[in-house]
Amino acid sequence: MEDFHHISVLPDEVLQALSPKSGGVYVDGTLGGAGHAGLILTASAPDGQLIGFDRDEEAIAVARERLSVFGGRVRIFHRNFAGIAQALAEIGVDGIDGFVLDLGVSSHQLDRDERGFSFMHDAPLDMRMDRSSGQSAADLVNTLPEAELYRIISEYGEERWAKRVASFIVKARDGRPIETTLELVDVIKGAIPKAKWEERLHPATRTFQALRIAVNEELKSLEEGLEGLLSLLKPGGRGAVISFHSLEDRIVKEGFRAAAAGCTCPKELPICICGRVPRFKLVTRKPITAGEAEVAANPRSRSAKLRVVEKI
Ligand SMILES: C[S@@+](CC[C@H](N)C(=O)[O-])C[C@H]1O[C@@H](n2cnc3c(N)ncnc32)[C@H](O)[C@@H]1O
Repeated sequence: MEDFHHISVLPDEVLQALSPKSGGVYVDGTLGGAGHAGLILTASAPDGQLIGFDRDEEAIAVARERLSVFGGRVRIFHRNFAGIAQALAEIGVDGIDGFVLDLGVSSHQLDRDERGFSFMHDAPLDMRMDRSSGQSAADLVNTLPEAELYRIISEYGEERWAKRVASFIVKARDGRPIETTLELVDVIKGAIPKAKWEERLHPATRTFQALRIAVNEELKSLEEGLEGLLSLLKPGGRGAVISFHSLEDRIVKEGFRAAAAGCTCPKELPICICGRVPRFKLVTRKPITAGEAEVAANPRSRSAKLRVVEKI
C-alpha cells in the first residue's frame, strides 16, 4: 500500500536502547508502517531476526511488503501483542534479545476516514484496530449503560464533563442509534458548554480517546503484553516502550518498577526475609522525549515517552 504514511518516533533513541546485533532475536509488537522494525533489521544484519505483530490487517500487509527485502529474517503475526508468549511458543522461540512497543494508533489509521478514529471526518463509528473481531465504538455507544459510559469517558478520557457526555449520549441514542463519528461529535459538543471548550483541544478529543481505548482494550493488552515480553527477555536483553498518554505511561512505569524491585521487607527488619532480588534494571529513570527538531518535523512525537528496561 503505497499511500501508507507514518513517521516513526524516537528512531535513534530506540536503536540506541536496543543496540541490535547480528544473531539476536527481536520483537516489534506494534509493526505499523514497519519503520522501527526496518531499522532493527538493518542494524542487526546479517543474521538478526525480527518477529513482528500488529492487530491491523492493513499494517500487516504494508509491513510484509516493506520488510520483504529482509527475507527469512522476518516472521509476522496478525495478532494482539498480548498473546506474545503463545505466539512465540508456537514457533519454538523461548527467549528474545530485545523488544519495542510503539503504542496507540498510526497516522495512517487516523487518516483513513473510514476507520472512524478521527473526529474531523464523517465515517462509521468503528475505531477497531482489528476489524476482523470485537465490538465497534458504535456498539459501545449504543448499548452500554450510562454508568459504564461515564466510567469509560472519565477514566480513559480523563474528561471532566464525562457525566454530561454520557447522559447526552444516552438521550441522543433514544430516538435512533448514533452511527457516525460526526453524529457523536455533535452530541459531545452539545454536552460540553461552549464557554468551557479548551482553546487548543477539540471538545471530542478526550471522549474519542476513551472510546478507542475501550474498543481495543488497550490498557489490558498493554499489561498482558508487557508481562509476556518481560518474561521472554534473555539476560542483557532490553525492552523499549513508547507511550503517548499518561494512562499508558503509568502502566509502563509501574510494570518496569515492579520488575526492577528488589527486597520488599519493611525497613525495620534487620535482615531480608522476602528473598526478592531485582530481575531487571531500569535503563531510564525518567522517560526519554523527542527533541525540538523531531517535534517540529513530526508533531505526533510531542507526547511520546520512551522507557527502557534491561534483564539482569
Ligand atoms: C504507532 S503505530 C506503530 C508504528 C511503527 N512503530 C513504525 O515505526 O512504523 C502503532 C501500531 O500498533 C498497532 N497496535 C496497537 N496496539 C496493538 C496491540 N495490542 N497488538 C498489536 N498491535 C497493536 C496498531 O494497529 C498500529 O499499527
